Amino acid sequence: MQRAVRIAPSILSADFSRLGDEVEAVTAAGADYIHVDVMDGHFVPNLTIGPVVVKALRKHSSLPFDCHLMIAPVDPYIPEFAAAGADIITVHPEAGPHLHRSVALIKDHGKKAGVALNPATPIEAVEHVLDIIDLVLVMSVDPGFGGQTFIASVTDKIRALRGRIDAMGRAIDLEVDGGINHDTAPIAIAAGADVLVAGTATFGNGPGAYAANIRRLRGEAVRS
Ligand code: DX5
Ligand code: ZN
Repeated sequence: MQRAVRIAPSILSADFSRLGDEVEAVTAAGADYIHVDVMDGHFVPNLTIGPVVVKALRKHSSLPFDCHLMIAPVDPYIPEFAAAGADIITVHPEAGPHLHRSVALIKDHGKKAGVALNPATPIEAVEHVLDIIDLVLVMSVDPGFGGQTFIASVTDKIRALRGRIDAMGRAIDLEVDGGINHDTAPIAIAAGADVLVAGTATFGNGPGAYAANIRRLRGEAVRS
């Protein structure tokens, strides 16, 4: 079965001095989600943006805002990201003691809930919330920075999750994040991913290239 592949540009690789324009540009270029990487300098060794920036960007795109929270504790900030305009809120199981409670909090705010699995985190970490979540994010790099190399050993995890999700029959996005480019996107897609996060590969070569970059990641032929 040919699955439609959606592209979620990570704004971590955008020009931060003109973030609103960048979000508008990838929206016009055919992106499906806007992926927002939130880092706290504690759960991951980098600091990025918070709900104030999400709120400011909200008016620049009508696409779903896919907010990937790499912060601990995470629960106190879920209401803030919901209020700021997040549509999907993704948390890591390691970011708090009660994953089910974090997911329930996201759902209570009327948002889609995602769970992110680090390269060394097993599928079992998400197993018992698969019946209530909307997205599984498979990290194909250790979280913290854009521009890292795809860890090929996560391919088996993507494939196993695809089997698990199909067997359940629930609509759960299977998103892969980290080191996605024109070489690795086909690997993730073949393993069963249906949403690809791409920072470096989307924002390379400036706004004039965004549409072609996105189409290429989806596997469409693009004349260069
Ligand atoms: C890493 C982030 C990713 C990252 C992707 O912690 O979650 O979203 O920015 O960047 P690229 O596509 O450059 O690997
Ligand atoms: Zn991310």
